Amino acid sequence: MKVEIITIFPALFEAFLDCSIVGRARQRGLLEVAVHDLRDFAADRHRTVDDTPYGGGPGMVMKPEPWFAALRSVLGADSPPRDGATEVILPTPRGRSLDQAMLEELAGRERLVIACGRYEGIDDRVRQRWATAEISLGDYVLGGGEIAAQVIVEGVTRLLPGAIGDPESARQDSHSSGLLDHRHFTKPAEFEGMAVPDVLLGGNHEQIRLWRLRDALEATARRRPDLLRENELSEEQKNLLRELQRNDKTSRAAQSGATEKDDGQAENS
Ligand code: 6GU
Repeated sequence: MKVEIITIFPALFEAFLDCSIVGRARQRGLLEVAVHDLRDFAADRHRTVDDTPYGGGPGMVMKPEPWFAALRSVLGADSPPRDGATEVILPTPRGRSLDQAMLEELAGRERLVIACGRYEGIDDRVRQRWATAEISLGDYVLGGGEIAAQVIVEGVTRLLPGAIGDPESARQDSHSSGLLDHRHFTKPAEFEGMAVPDVLLGGNHEQIRLWRLRDALEATARRRPDLLRENELSEEQKNLLRELQRNDKTSRAAQSGATEKDDGQAENS
């Protein structure tokens, strides 16, 4: 996979590209990244990339000329190739919210070009001519697209075959199954009075698989019930979830029984 990043802050990518999964993937030749300084494509000696907005208002807008020059140079064409091999991504809070399915789709491309805007945004004609995807990290505002570009690159890289030691670990993550991940423990078995669940200490792989699946379902039901509504569950997952919900009801009933008794005593005293 080839990634081309266009930014006015190339320095933001230096440590990021050398460390951890992304650094290793580059060393292994699975990933090639080029960072381009947008100011190199500015026409004046001050290397200007922004100007005041038409219609007035606060802030500055990125000029179209440096972007057109940079994208023409990087893509070697006057518009993005529509062959499905190249994605030209504009990170923007106006874009589609990034999720694991989008990362998986992007991981299948040969080339990603990521155009990082700053200030109030980029002149819209850049989007009109060049963008094939607009991606948001969520409903909040950052100062520019650079962090989003890093999120996309790291999220995609760990899906590239060979980037992670054990490919099973990518498949078991939170969200790749449509569920939150189960909890994790390592040695020691007891620490500051807190014990690791017994089943994980034994070697019964089927029991461990069931504990993990229940744990993932329970966490998802409690924390992100929206995910359970969106994703198709297997028969086993549906059965375990029903079982968890029955247990939940019984323990809530027992709890409220105890509360009523306590209330009664409070009234009597
Ligand atoms: Cl992709 N860019 C900016 N500037 N802010 C954001 C964002 C992107 N996603 C969420 N907030």
